Amino acid sequence: MSHTSTLVTGAHFAYIAQRTQPDDDFLIALKKAAAAAGIPPIWVAPEQIAFMGILLRLVGARRVVEVGTLAGYSAIGMARALPADGKLSTIELSPKHAAFAREWVAKSDVANRVEVLEGGGADHLPHFADGSIDAVFLDADKASYPEYLREGMRLLRPGGLMMADNAFAFGQLFDQHPTDREAPAVRRFNDFVPTVAGLDAVIVPIGDGLWVGVKREPAKPLPQPALE
Ligand code: DHB
Ligand code: MG
Repeated sequence: MSHTSTLVTGAHFAYIAQRTQPDDDFLIALKKAAAAAGIPPIWVAPEQIAFMGILLRLVGARRVVEVGTLAGYSAIGMARALPADGKLSTIELSPKHAAFAREWVAKSDVANRVEVLEGGGADHLPHFADGSIDAVFLDADKASYPEYLREGMRLLRPGGLMMADNAFAFGQLFDQHPTDREAPAVRRFNDFVPTVAGLDAVIVPIGDGLWVGVKREPAKPLPQPALE
């Protein structure tokens, strides 16, 4: 029997989660306070944080941009994978969510590595210089992902890491009539990513599906043939 792919089930996800460092007391308290503040519990999974942290370390990330802060859970989780002088800029449209995230970032162990920028991705991404960023994580409004990806590709350095959340469309990827209004935008984005020049990316089945890609290094010029 061929094992090109093993069907990943809920049992596999639970198995993976049981073998991942769970949230620490601080992140548990953040989620509790967020629930009390009426912030929706649409967190990335702890094992996804662990995986993204590993990827950030592998690319030696020092400068990271996140689009979509929510309550700051993933920003704090990712910032923990950066060196002490690293910096993660996280962009959040909702003033309420941005204020909550700022408060919790300030109380966290990575307060000096995280800045919360209030506004949309289209407001803030243009202000980052070409090639100045090591990693980008998209986790905001899905209809804008293609635009965020285009900007992300501009600000990533060659060899930089691109990640995007929710490739499985909140579990509704294959639903004929998805109830989530953003599911069609996720499908469009999933079809768009493989067409993006200079990006090598694959959907990793962790959490709700995580796009992971690398911005290609420019092709090296061919060596000149030696003249006779
Ligand atoms: C939902 C989940 C997410 O991770 C996200 O970025 C947006 C929405 C959801 O479950 O609705
Ligand atoms: Mg998400």
